[in-house]
Amino acid sequence: MCNCTWFMVALVLLQAVTTLLAVAPEECPTNVPENERRDCHSDPGSTEESCWERDCTWCESNDVNVPWCFYNTDPAPYGDCPTYQHPKDRVDCHPDSGSTQPSCESRGCLWCETAYEGAPWCFYSEGVAPEPIMEGYRVDCLMDQAGGESLCRERGCYYDSSNRDGVPWCYFPPDDRGYRIVGEVQDMYFGHRIDLRRDHDYTLFGGDVDEIRIDIEMQTDERLHVKIYDPNNIRFEVPHQMPRNNNKASNPLYQIQYSNDPIFTLNVTRTDNGRMIWDTSIGGLVYEDQYLQLATKLGSEEIYGFGEHEHHSFRHDIGFRTHGMYSRDQPPVENGNLYGVYPYYMSIEEDFNAHGVLLLNSNAQDVTLQPGPAITYRTIGGVLDYWIFLGPTPENVAEQLSEAVGRTFMPPYWSMGFQLSRYGYNHIDVVKETVNRVLAYDIPLDVQFGDIDYMDRYMDFTYDKVNYAGLPEYVNELKTEEGIHYIIILDPCIANSEPAGTYPPYDEGSRLGVWVNDTNGIPVVGKVWPPEGVVFPDYTNPTCNEWWVKQCLDFKEVINYDGLWIDMNEPASFVTGSLDGCDYNKWNNPPYHPNIFGNVLADKTLCPDFVHFAGKHYDIHSLYGLSEGPPSLAAARAATGKRSIVISRSTYPGSSQHVGHWLGDNYSQWNNMHFSIIGMLEMNLFGMPYVGADICGFINDAQYEMCLRWHQLGAFYPFSRNHNGLGYREQDPGAWDDSFGYNVRDILYVRYTLIPYLYTLFHQSHTKGSTVVRPLMHEFITDRETHTTDRQFLWGASLMISPVLDQGATSVRAYFPDDRWYDYYTGNEVSERGSYVTLNAPSDYIPLHVRGGYIMPTQEPARSTVYSRVLPLGVIVALDDNDSAAGKIFWDDGDSIDTYENGEFFTADFSASSGELQGVITHDGYRGVDSLVWGTVRVLGVATSVTSVSVNGAAHYDYSYNEQTQELVINNMDANMNVNLNVSWS
Ligand code: GLC
Repeated sequence: MCNCTWFMVALVLLQAVTTLLAVAPEECPTNVPENERRDCHSDPGSTEESCWERDCTWCESNDVNVPWCFYNTDPAPYGDCPTYQHPKDRVDCHPDSGSTQPSCESRGCLWCETAYEGAPWCFYSEGVAPEPIMEGYRVDCLMDQAGGESLCRERGCYYDSSNRDGVPWCYFPPDDRGYRIVGEVQDMYFGHRIDLRRDHDYTLFGGDVDEIRIDIEMQTDERLHVKIYDPNNIRFEVPHQMPRNNNKASNPLYQIQYSNDPIFTLNVTRTDNGRMIWDTSIGGLVYEDQYLQLATKLGSEEIYGFGEHEHHSFRHDIGFRTHGMYSRDQPPVENGNLYGVYPYYMSIEEDFNAHGVLLLNSNAQDVTLQPGPAITYRTIGGVLDYWIFLGPTPENVAEQLSEAVGRTFMPPYWSMGFQLSRYGYNHIDVVKETVNRVLAYDIPLDVQFGDIDYMDRYMDFTYDKVNYAGLPEYVNELKTEEGIHYIIILDPCIANSEPAGTYPPYDEGSRLGVWVNDTNGIPVVGKVWPPEGVVFPDYTNPTCNEWWVKQCLDFKEVINYDGLWIDMNEPASFVTGSLDGCDYNKWNNPPYHPNIFGNVLADKTLCPDFVHFAGKHYDIHSLYGLSEGPPSLAAARAATGKRSIVISRSTYPGSSQHVGHWLGDNYSQWNNMHFSIIGMLEMNLFGMPYVGADICGFINDAQYEMCLRWHQLGAFYPFSRNHNGLGYREQDPGAWDDSFGYNVRDILYVRYTLIPYLYTLFHQSHTKGSTVVRPLMHEFITDRETHTTDRQFLWGASLMISPVLDQGATSVRAYFPDDRWYDYYTGNEVSERGSYVTLNAPSDYIPLHVRGGYIMPTQEPARSTVYSRVLPLGVIVALDDNDSAAGKIFWDDGDSIDTYENGEFFTADFSASSGELQGVITHDGYRGVDSLVWGTVRVLGVATSVTSVSVNGAAHYDYSYNEQTQELVINNMDANMNVNLNVSWS
């Protein structure tokens, strides 16, 4: 207890007061009117004596409802207290030493000196200490700096030590210091509208928004939109075409409750089981001009997502881990904010339902994942615009996110093939040598890239006529003679120092005024690859997009490219802000600097106060890559007249409508292979399925064993490209030795065999939002073991890839969820289910398994998809416990725009059971199938010996059945693809 030095004095005083008042008066010793008496002895058994013992006044009354023992305030025995509370009932609010009236009041407590023995002078007004908040729920109130109890108190926050790592000592009061509802919650056609008013006078960084509004849009049964904004001022909003609703969902999977006691909180639960999704009762709602914060409890500890980062586990560590988001030219390192921004997580709930939450906000921000479990969001601008997807399965969640932000583009068939690139071939002869030695091993190759060294002094829309003399001819030769497509890199920045009239991209862009400007309307100049300064196209400006398309079209006349690789679009600059730096102002130097790299926001990029057509760079920055996507795909399509493809480094939710993505400048290190799987899985959660990492790593020299293992893994990246950095040892698959080269050929032949399946998965992603590379848990959600699997992954539902990721390893400990699994190569069934199995994986081998119950389309492989596309197709039928299986194929010309949308495609459904496989055509809109045939069928798990086979009603003799592996292989069926397929065996 506090104030112990006062103890003796207090005792003497107390005795004096007690003696004085212990003389029972004849009449009431007070003039407190009966109706104002406050009960001092609400517990039963009060007597005059026990009343006096409490220092209260005793006075009988004829009215039974009037207390006879009541607090005496006239004269007040306890000084001029702001409460009637008896000192004996006080709950100490300042158990630590040194309490003073100001320090007490800064805790939101009452101060009143008293002579009453042992009573604290600083005490909680309600007579009870607030529920202590669990440490894991504490919402940091000194997010911008460490320590500082006095600043903490000034902010109206609580200060308590903790001996656990990461737990904030200064934290928001959970039930104080927030907003309160003004008036009633309004019923709207879309859901509810709630107006809130700030309920305290504290500030963090100033610019408090006193009135905020929450629109709760119950958009569909599965999709809930919660937008918290300033109804009185326009603030920046991500200019995305998000879905709207004209009426409330009728049967939502979610319930929403509000509380206003003592401050506003929001609660979202799942309808059918009442499980909590969100509960904001841990406090910490802040809405200031440049600091917006929302914290909420989470219903589960299983959190996945947020990007773009290098995460070392797929499932998050929620021990107060903060992830910053602001797009940045940053080679992947743990805790670094990388190229893209994905303020999105998916969570698996206790009973295996899943939901996803997107914060549609583009400002520099961070999130802290806390062990409560809880999450704290902090962003320095825009609005708090949340989109919640209720699943209930993880695949449903992925589909719902992609529906909201836009389905992924349909990649051309050739982009399913293997691709080769490097920064610094430096000469066309080196490119030729590289391609030739790869082809010499018969390694399939579909795309060759041109990195910036094909350019003249690194300037877009030029090529180096000395070192790359003959490039235009070579590109055509690759296409016509080798079936190899060519993709060129384009950086956004445009050189500004060429003599007038010699560099049309700059001259035309300047004439049209398409650059990002400073606050005086002058184009800003930064430094990137070209030798002198560069200006930055503003892709939020429609005129800029026309200019960009024109440049791409003009350049197509020079280099006959097939696709575009848009790099450095964070946007990256090698100087801070601009050649002239940045002014000091609220945009360039906001009061809160999220947990991102660099001391200022302009680090490695533009000044936040620079001006785009669509707003300030402060708001637009992380959308730069997003905005470059549509004009780039439009340009690539206009230039090629084909579907084409664009690969982008910086992305944001929705980018995938126009671009694919690679995971950036990774390291030639073993652990980067593992991180690439996590990166790929996350990008698939984000709706960005066309993804891969640079095979063998970009930075540093690759080593033989690692690079071989990486090719084995990379053969199963959707975007399968070996790309290398400047000056490092050659790492293309032809650069090592024969056994390396042939092994890569073999594994890529497996990929090419399965491309019809991969392409069908992309079609499903494009039309339905499914993941392509799929976490095991998406298929086996009730098996908790799969929730942390991030060293294995699936293609769709049915192909499991278990790569070797460790130096020197020749086996893999792979998990097999409870189902039938067959070795892809031998057809042998895996004998264990729902357990780990140690698989042999010699240096030339990657374990692959096919899941029972599924049918995958295949095709004979060749050196490029241009050649393989015309070869016989096939199917792999993997039987389940009921001896049945099902699958699909999507097929089209692989290269035209919108074939699905225009009906120019072919689909068939496969099903197998009781010794019979059926392929039923479900759409027959592509005549290219008229010249294709089904050649091979592999049936895995055929328990009884096969002695006869028929194909489309006719006996067929070219088959083999292996009793040991129980695999039936039917060859050379030559069955026309344009008729339904029927294969039976007995
Ligand atoms: C960036 C890219 C890298 C590219 C290089 C040169 O670092 O991330 O892939 O090779 O620029 O263009």
